[in-house]
Amino acid sequence: SIYLVGIVILAYLFGSIPTAVWFGQAFYSVDVREYGSGNAGATNTFRVLGPKAGAIVMFVDIFKGWTATNLPYLLDSSIVGNHNSPHFVNFQLALGVIAVLGHLFPIFAGFRGGKGVATLFGMVLAIHAPAALCCVSIFTICLLVTHYVSLSSILAGFTFPISVAFIFKTTVPSVLLYGIAICALILITHQKNIERLLKGHESKIYLFKKKNP
Ligand code: G3P
Repeated sequence: SIYLVGIVILAYLFGSIPTAVWFGQAFYSVDVREYGSGNAGATNTFRVLGPKAGAIVMFVDIFKGWTATNLPYLLDSSIVGNHNSPHFVNFQLALGVIAVLGHLFPIFAGFRGGKGVATLFGMVLAIHAPAALCCVSIFTICLLVTHYVSLSSILAGFTFPISVAFIFKTTVPSVLLYGIAICALILITHQKNIERLLKGHESKIYLFKKKNP
């Protein structure tokens, strides 16, 4: 129906909001894609513009994914099924992924976006909050131990299907299928990071800098 088409476009437009690019241009007159890893994401914003800017971009990008994934709530249950039914969750998953594709290929920033990790997290949060908590935990531990955001993102991505399957034992097969697809997507978007990690060239992120005495 026309409503479905509208909501798909809306999800893509939400995902397309190039938070890192716009934030850097508006407040620092900088396109973060010209520095650091060249990625239009929260990590590179942190790297180029500092922790506050990185945190703001992260929250907005998470919110984008969460909002897009919750768009089916706007439609009648005769179209999307009852809330929490597998049918409804399928719509949520599809719209979340569409928002992530918007983040990767944003119409508002020359189709050069980010890697979709924060947006994916927003999607996971909307679909399965306890699994999202598992992902955050693994991400945080990995980041504090290794200081590699990319490696933490990859491990957090794998945590989603593993936790829904083995800890929460989901009965919705599409959650698992999308979970596996998410892992594949993260591996694809992080190819350059993986190469750098293997060569030992990946840049490290320190959340807490030691203050000089
Ligand atoms: O947010 C994406 C992160 O996993 C890697 O970002 O800038 O280090 O390539 P970056």
